[in-house]
Amino acid sequence: MHILLTGATGLMGSAFARVAKRRGHRVTGVVHRTQPPADSPLDQVVNGDLTDDTWVLETVLDLFPEAIVNAAAVSEPARCESEPETAQAMNVALPTQLAQLAHHLSARFIHLSTDMVFDGERGDYSPVDAPSPASLYGWQKLESEKAVVQRAPDFATVLRLPLLNGNSPGGRRSLHEKLFAAWSRGETVRLYEDEIRQPCLADNAAEVIMELCERNDFIGLRHWAGAEALSRWEIGRRILEHFNLPDHLIKPASRRDSEAGRRRPARLTFDVTSLRSKLKARAQPFEDQLEPLIIPPDTRAWYHAL
Ligand SMILES: NC(=O)c1ccc[n+]([C@@H]2O[C@H](COP(=O)([O-])OP(=O)(O)OC[C@H]3O[C@@H](n4cnc5c(N)ncnc54)[C@H](OP(=O)(O)O)[C@@H]3O)[C@@H](O)[C@H]2O)c1
Repeated sequence: MHILLTGATGLMGSAFARVAKRRGHRVTGVVHRTQPPADSPLDQVVNGDLTDDTWVLETVLDLFPEAIVNAAAVSEPARCESEPETAQAMNVALPTQLAQLAHHLSARFIHLSTDMVFDGERGDYSPVDAPSPASLYGWQKLESEKAVVQRAPDFATVLRLPLLNGNSPGGRRSLHEKLFAAWSRGETVRLYEDEIRQPCLADNAAEVIMELCERNDFIGLRHWAGAEALSRWEIGRRILEHFNLPDHLIKPASRRDSEAGRRRPARLTFDVTSLRSKLKARAQPFEDQLEPLIIPPDTRAWYHAL
């Protein structure tokens, strides 16, 4: 299958490219500021700005893919606040246009969304639960979900994902990479004991996206996550343990202690029964997610000097 992959150099996109290559698909990756590594699994690379809708139109029609996987986004909530127009173009206008094009080409379309469409008041959300985002990022992703399902009702799956683990191409994007960056700057990181998340390894999510791409059922909204719900504090503690790092690098904190903390979602966890046991991919315990993690290259000098 010829797959057009946006966000090919991101945390999720790069993991998907590896899985798709392994499965024997031909992947054309859209790249922007970050260039793919020399050993990239991409078969073809197109360089362009996905906020340019004319370029998107011409590129998609020219390539005529059988499937489109949209892993491009402004995926940092803080950047959505500081650059709302770019974020709107990437997080809403782009998926809307890709859905329209997928419908036109009769191509399978997988659009990635987030647990942050929920406010985290209740947890264990299923796809039929009413979303209520607590951030601009969450609102934009929700708007994209509705547009995608409406524009490509027969071809699109919107896959909501949780907090992602993994080794990102730049080494600065994922959960453990952000912790390592802070530690290497000499910071002790305060982690909430009362903020619960259900992390998932990007490579595992990529297996799910691959299966969804290869199948024509599972159209519409779906949830995927890891097998365990853990507090931010517990996540940090297990990362320390895995890398044999000293306890003092993290400190427990409570969301209740600050205004910023109280605004954070308390419990963003998913009910994944709409996909679990219907796919070959299995939700992973956190221990298994830690296994493939590497020390981010930028922080190796700090790590080895400890
Ligand atoms: N990371 C998470 O924890 C998480 C959790 C739940 C859901 N998700 C969702 O999963 C998807 C992928 O997230 P991610 O974490 O893999 O994102 P990421 O690592 O931040 O990657 C985003 C990708 O989008 C590309 N991009 C951004 N602006 C672009 C532009 N104007 N033109 C072309 N490409 C552009 C980036 O390329 P350049 O860097 O070269 O600009 C990068 O390849 C998103 O939809 C996100 O909402 C992520």
